[in-house]
Amino acid sequence: MLLHDKFGRAITDLRISITDRCNYKCVYCRTGNEGALYGDLPFEDYFRMARVLVGMGITKVRLTGGEPLLRKGVVEFVRELAKLRPQGLKPSSYGGGNGTLRLRSGQAPEAVPFPTPTVGLKAVADPTVADPMPDPKPEQQRTGDFSDPLDIALTTNGHLLADLAQPLKDAGLTRVTVSMDAVDPDRFVRITRVPGGYDHVLAGIRAARRAGLWPLKVNCVLMRGFNEDQIIPFGMFAREEGVTVRFIEFMPLEEGRTWAPTTVVTLDEILARMAEYRPLVEIPHARSETARRYRFDDGVGEIGIIAPVSHPFCGHCSRIRITSDGKIRTCLFSVWDHDLHAQMRRGASDDELAEFIQGVVAKKEERHHIGEPDFVPASRTMVHIGG
Ligand code: GTP
Ligand code: 5AD
Repeated sequence: MLLHDKFGRAITDLRISITDRCNYKCVYCRTGNEGALYGDLPFEDYFRMARVLVGMGITKVRLTGGEPLLRKGVVEFVRELAKLRPQGLKPSSYGGGNGTLRLRSGQAPEAVPFPTPTVGLKAVADPTVADPMPDPKPEQQRTGDFSDPLDIALTTNGHLLADLAQPLKDAGLTRVTVSMDAVDPDRFVRITRVPGGYDHVLAGIRAARRAGLWPLKVNCVLMRGFNEDQIIPFGMFAREEGVTVRFIEFMPLEEGRTWAPTTVVTLDEILARMAEYRPLVEIPHARSETARRYRFDDGVGEIGIIAPVSHPFCGHCSRIRITSDGKIRTCLFSVWDHDLHAQMRRGASDDELAEFIQGVVAKKEERHHIGEPDFVPASRTMVHIGG
């Protein structure tokens, strides 16, 4: 039972929020008045959900929050996740085995030895190819008996990363994305509303790099009036620190009501501003990837732009989310969620969980409606969904 929605999109990317607590109060995300609103589950429960979902074709698990590193036990959780093996969603272009895929719905994927670990989705390096990596076709998915490890990623604000980067890597984390919205320390404090964070985050980024958590991405949400003057400094930062800096268009997912179309700094504006510093050359990205990718003309430094507002990518969405309290969300902008944990509490078997998940995924929304007259705000804000 591989996961597809009714629009034919393969669901291969799972994001699990392990807490909706956060130690930052970023102005574009939180009001600063509200704390956590939802509970956490024991890691065994998230693990069971992940195990069942990996058995249904998930190849990438991203841990998010709130701030996931606030959760004690996250390293051990990664170690357990790293024992799971994807079950057959493998585009033929990745190479892979030649056996027949064994699909066992809702059953634990067995741990098998893997000779050549590779990071899952990596675009080919031919900048002349406009769309080089199509999503896997069902027939391609069913021909590989491969044993690549699960791609396990984590999105963090980086505050606690310096001490955890190496233990996480040793436990089996593949890579990390750090949210950082200014390279100027004073601006950083204005945005996060927590004093002294900048040095911790920089130390976290450097520790992740040393630990080989790669590719290392830095996400910057741009908000007009707050940090659009940081675009060029971030270009320099990408080159100096050897990280991929990704600018994100601000979406209406905040606790307050600060979003307006005019607060969004768009892809076109970002490109124009960066071109004042150095020319960028677009490079290919995987179709289900959120970011368009660019390199500077001299090959040093990579920039990404995630443009859900001006250039929506819903048509290629491969994601579902599990919230910290065990609800499935099929879209960031869902107006309802689906209580997977309630199924577990009532004693559902793995097969029954798989059936429930299949039914939920079938109802995945076609697209978001940001900026349209019929837009209805999501039933949770970003910090309570998981980024
Ligand atoms: P990679 O696996 O490295 O490609 O990461 P990712 O881009 O999938 O994950 P990340 O957590 O870095 O997401 C970056 C940002 O993209 C998020 O913070 C959101 O702003 C945006 N984003 C992620 N998923 C979705 C989605 O399903 N819909 C929309 N509209 N935006 C999304
Ligand atoms: N719009 C876009 N991105 C957001 N993030 C948080 N809130 C928003 C929003 N309203 C980003 C964070 C982090 C990731 C989890 O989501 O900065 O990179």
